[in-house]
Amino acid sequence: MPVRMIGTGSYVPDKLVTNEDLEKLVDTSDAWITERTGIHTRRVTGEGTAFMAVRAARRALEAAGMEAEELDMILVGTSTGDFLFPNTACQVQAALGADRAVCFDLSAACSGFLFTLNTAKVYLESGAYQTALVIGADTLSKTIDWEDRSTCVLFGDGAGAAVVRREQGSFGVGGFLMGSDGGRGGCLACPSAPVKNPWFVPREELREVLSMNGQEVFRFAVKTVPEVMEALLRQEGLEAGNIKYFILHQANERIIASVARRMKQPIEKFPMDLGQYGNTSGASIPILLDELNREGKLSEGDRLLLAGFGAGLTWGATIITW
Ligand code: ACO
Repeated sequence: MPVRMIGTGSYVPDKLVTNEDLEKLVDTSDAWITERTGIHTRRVTGEGTAFMAVRAARRALEAAGMEAEELDMILVGTSTGDFLFPNTACQVQAALGADRAVCFDLSAACSGFLFTLNTAKVYLESGAYQTALVIGADTLSKTIDWEDRSTCVLFGDGAGAAVVRREQGSFGVGGFLMGSDGGRGGCLACPSAPVKNPWFVPREELREVLSMNGQEVFRFAVKTVPEVMEALLRQEGLEAGNIKYFILHQANERIIASVARRMKQPIEKFPMDLGQYGNTSGASIPILLDELNREGKLSEGDRLLLAGFGAGLTWGATIITW
């Protein structure tokens, strides 16, 4: 039985940080950030990841016309939970009162939402569960060295959610491809607290901040994303022309433009909101999907190709027939 996406929701914090605000923190300029990334503003949270995830989840449930008690699963794609444990999904469960749901997080950085969506799809297709809430939520702002101009201009906070249900019909969440390359993990990383106990003390203090080799991540993205998209289209017997929108992880306008050129598709088929929100990591794809949905840009039967990439390295793509 197919798995359909029956409601979407998203949430971004109110606090706006402009490129001009960042000019006061580090040696940068609005012109540099705009030209190299396409980002103008980003939002930052004082509340944390679960708070944002719950708000996005409530909107997705409302759109689906469902009560939280009907959920069998809650999966959160996040690398920035408020606690090491309990996981973010359990926090969302408690806030929503989704008492029947099994809840766990998945860590795959900016590919997090796609990995949770594909995981939920496999559980639902197997018949083990009927309905899942999948969320991408991240608070990258707490991992950032706000004195490092090469990273602090890129990221923002937010959450996006979708309700997926196993139900009769010919449309739904279709084929997917996912991949990982742990060997290149060092090019985008954020350490957690080092091992420290009465017998072992760390040799050096690790700073729990994000570090990135931007050019290596850029090269990875512009090569791997079109490759995985083309492979998925071949797998599904489709062509790029059959896709209405390519909903890519919102990291950098130049990455998205390069992918569009490589796919020989007009840039208008690659919607973007990174100018407003920056790179919200696991939240970027579901936020954009929710915006397109609420703007009435998605019609029944439209094919969407979602593609994410990020730290790990990880990447994935999924086709949805709306
Ligand atoms: N303001 C002004 N100058 C800057 C800034 C800044 N904010 N940041 C870097 N520069 C300088 C550099 O110091 C360098 O100066 P130099 O030539 O004197 O040494 C110059 O600008 C060029 O730096 P590059 O790193 O070569 O700039 P590039 O054009 O590659 O753009 C960027 C950098 C935007 C980070 C780009 O490499 C990129 O987008 N990479 C991909 C990043 C990405 O997508 N990360 C997220 C992955 S998703 C996830 O999992 C979180």
